[in-house]
Amino acid sequence: MITVEQVSFSYPDGTRALHDVSLTVTAGDSVGIVGANGAGKSTLVNHLNGWYLPQSGKITIDGVEVRKKNLERIRKLAGLVFQSPDDQLFMARLYDDIMFGPKNLGLDPERSAEESEKLLRDFGLWELRDKPPSKLSQGQKRFAAFAAVLVMHPSVLVMDEPTSDLDPRNRKRLISLVRDLQATRVTVSHDLDFIWETCSHVYVMAEGRIVAQGPAKELLSDRNLLEANGLELPLRMQK
Ligand SMILES: Nc1ncnc2c1ncn2[C@@H]1O[C@H](COP(=O)(O)OP(=O)(O)O)[C@@H](O)[C@H]1O
Ligand SMILES: [Mg+2]
Repeated sequence: MITVEQVSFSYPDGTRALHDVSLTVTAGDSVGIVGANGAGKSTLVNHLNGWYLPQSGKITIDGVEVRKKNLERIRKLAGLVFQSPDDQLFMARLYDDIMFGPKNLGLDPERSAEESEKLLRDFGLWELRDKPPSKLSQGQKRFAAFAAVLVMHPSVLVMDEPTSDLDPRNRKRLISLVRDLQATRVTVSHDLDFIWETCSHVYVMAEGRIVAQGPAKELLSDRNLLEANGLELPLRMQK
């Protein structure tokens, strides 16, 4: 479903954020990407819906290459929940933010309106639909950002630090939501317990490279590997 082949990327200021990164995600699988701050995780996943384009190497989503001329197709296939909900929500009214993607992709407006309502109700946000997203709590913004992406029915869902603003109850809600999705999922998180609960395979990144990969439970139990890469065992393993 997703192939990343030897992708490298530098920012305009010269920071080399990705060096020869390769990975493969099978359709329907749920993959975690972990690593210390600055390891390149966000830079990598921001490529998966064409937000960034590879400067060298190649990325495909369901056989479609991530490049400028395919962006419309790529955005239909892959939805990205950004690390910061403020990058996702920019309209004056929450409801318009949820409807923005479907409108942009030319999806059926009536169906999208029904689905927006359902998602907003499921996330306890329906009563807040006329509010500016900037006035929502961080947790509400997080679910709003999810709604804005899920309403487009992506085959690939990419999430960057999805639990960072959530209280324990909402974190549990997100775990069951993510587990129940049929989509191919890629999750970046420092919350290794969340990765444990939702991912079958894990990649460890450090300094712009993939340094390890394997079955989630195996890698997430490897204290030496995690500590060598600025991480700690999931809380469940620390007991
Ligand atoms: N817009 C940017 N301009 C320049 N450097 C950046 C930018 N965004 C991130 N970086 C740098 O790229 C590297 C990887 O960052 P990032 O992908 O955000 O890491 P992570 O998500 O793993 O914390 C870091 O060294 C970071 O400082
Ligand atoms: Mg990041």
